[in-house]
Amino acid sequence: MKKIVFATNNVHKLEELRKLTEGKIEILSLKDIDCYDDIPETADTLEGNALIKARWVKERYGYDCFADDTGLEVDALDGEPGVYSARYAGDNHDSEANMRLLLSKLHGEKNRSARFCTVIALIEGDQEFIMDGIVEGEITLESSGQNGFGYDPVFRPEGCDMTFAEMGADLKNRISHRGRAVSKLIKYFSL
Ligand code: IMP
Repeated sequence: MKKIVFATNNVHKLEELRKLTEGKIEILSLKDIDCYDDIPETADTLEGNALIKARWVKERYGYDCFADDTGLEVDALDGEPGVYSARYAGDNHDSEANMRLLLSKLHGEKNRSARFCTVIALIEGDQEFIMDGIVEGEITLESSGQNGFGYDPVFRPEGCDMTFAEMGADLKNRISHRGRAVSKLIKYFSL
């Protein structure tokens, strides 16, 4: 089975990815290759950050690798928090604080449309590929649900009557930004 490194320390993302690629690709984590680096995410685009992370692993550890970067774009906030989604409320990447800030900025706002965008950068041999996945939806008035992570409790995907945090992992993976980007990755490997 093909082995590839997923350049992330996020256990939720690893779990999601392993589920999505079960029996098709073996996903190694950064820990599996003894990489404990604090990889910088200093670009001002999702694509730029995904490329920094994938190149870091390829150049220093020699593994074929992919990395993702995700942003939540809210129309009424001119696309905020976007590439800054992880540290919207500060550098400690506190999801609860991020959601509180988002809900307070949208207080009284009628236009709640938003989307999650994931960009995956894949490096295989000496070739680089970019794949994306988008899910449209809206920001709820209050947080709801216990599953998932990040902004899941305040994001309701289009056509659904529950937030990402209220659905099971299988449904979220089927329709999510990352699920859509990963299905392009799987298609690329023709699995
Ligand atoms: P990252 O840089 O790709 O790890 O993600 C940026 C921010 O978006 C982090 O705050 C994550 O919590 C959030 N995020 C990424 N993916 C998801 C998701 O599937 N659901 C909810 N929030 C997410």
